[in-house]
Amino acid sequence: MKNYILSLDQGTSISKAIIFNKNGEIVSLVQKEYEQYYPKLGWIEQDAEEIWYSQASVAEEVLAKVGLSGNDIAGIGITNQRETTIIWDRETGIPIYNAIVWQDKRTSHICDQLKQDGYASIIRDKTGLILDAFFSATKIKWLLDNVKGAREKAEQGKLAFGTVDSWLIWKLTKGEKHVTDVSNASRTMLYNIHELKWDKEILELLQIPESILPKVCSSSEVYGMTRKSLFGVEIPISGICGDQQAALFGQSCLDKGMVNNTYNTGCFILMNTGDQPVKSKNDLITTIAWSIGEKITYALEGSVFIGGAAVQWLRDSLNLIHSIEEIEELALTEKDNGGIYIVPSFTGLGAPYWDQYARGTFWGLNMSTTAGHIARASLESIAHRSSDVLDAMEADSGLKIKQLRVGGIMANNTLLQYQADILGIPVVRPKIKEITALGAAYLAGLAVGFWSDVDEIRNQWKITKEFNVKMEKNLILHDKKYWKKALSRSLNWLD
Ligand code: G3P
Repeated sequence: MKNYILSLDQGTSISKAIIFNKNGEIVSLVQKEYEQYYPKLGWIEQDAEEIWYSQASVAEEVLAKVGLSGNDIAGIGITNQRETTIIWDRETGIPIYNAIVWQDKRTSHICDQLKQDGYASIIRDKTGLILDAFFSATKIKWLLDNVKGAREKAEQGKLAFGTVDSWLIWKLTKGEKHVTDVSNASRTMLYNIHELKWDKEILELLQIPESILPKVCSSSEVYGMTRKSLFGVEIPISGICGDQQAALFGQSCLDKGMVNNTYNTGCFILMNTGDQPVKSKNDLITTIAWSIGEKITYALEGSVFIGGAAVQWLRDSLNLIHSIEEIEELALTEKDNGGIYIVPSFTGLGAPYWDQYARGTFWGLNMSTTAGHIARASLESIAHRSSDVLDAMEADSGLKIKQLRVGGIMANNTLLQYQADILGIPVVRPKIKEITALGAAYLAGLAVGFWSDVDEIRNQWKITKEFNVKMEKNLILHDKKYWKKALSRSLNWLD
């Protein structure tokens, strides 16, 4: 009996495989952290083969861990770090270069030039995106312009581009399928989110041959079967969704106006805006959340590039902690932030500021500053960045946000309590922690009849903890004021 769905959650720092049962509960989970490479200032790369091996190995182990086999799996859902750009040779299947990660800023100058040439609003209107190095388009251009022989091969139809979902499916199907879904396509800055097709004008502008692009599918359908050698049987791959949109789905934010924030490497706050794209006046982006059948759901998104990455930095570069989880313990050694404000703009600032050249700022350091203050200020910085986005989201949508649903590795009690304090609304953590993977599992399960419809899914969402405002009003106002001051010092670093 095929009683389970396997979800592959390929995140920026971690590859996870999770098995869900019919109640949407986790049956088995295996995860693996993998290497990041920083060859130059502002460059961030990953080894595409390592992404595949880490993902394939956790997929194998997650089944073995609970004595299941490929025969027990009704479908596979894939969710992934978005925008990260891989180009490979169609014949050999070998990537022509490392994966250029979404945080990578090497193409900022290309974006600057396009802005100077007046393309920002055209690109915004077509793709819903702010012209920024974050998205895949300029990374593809860079690869074609800088990897020897790449442009010629691309023009001869010999290369394939994909975000990580496409790459994994190519590998899972042994090169049979070169596909993506609308949610991932909408992050490339090449996809027209109104006409639902690759945009020829932008492709021409960036000199990207259309032949390298994957076929764009819905987020819930059978795209192909896994090769038999992987799981002993062929399993349908039946769901694809970019990780932040998958989280929105997994949180059951299925109705217009519902909002989710996932606190992982970055923080991504998405509001479901229903079947209509909402154009932002406050520098959020308009994106496709998912599509099921013919029905497209759109979202407004505020992308915060550094969330948990700030804590990783405290761990890896400053050695203040040994594990991500320790940050909360360290933060709790102090009762407040000791007047310290950290703006973690290590890779520029995303929404709603979009400053590619912003730099990280520690503000208010003094002789009494402790590691505990720094830990607390780091957690608070994540909450402040998210709060800035939610303010913009309310202004754009004209809707009062009533509740924030949350998930992700950084969603600890201390951070979430502070988040509720500065937002002034309830912050709600669901029972299932792995909501991103769950979202992809739901989309995969819907395509193969494992779940009958969206209402069945909606009823599975349960709260485990709600955080309400506790902090005194004057303290909240004080913190917000000083956060803004610190922020102003982080912006326009090159000026
Ligand atoms: O857009 C980038 C995003 O998809 C990365 O998500 O969870 O890996 O930080 P995460």
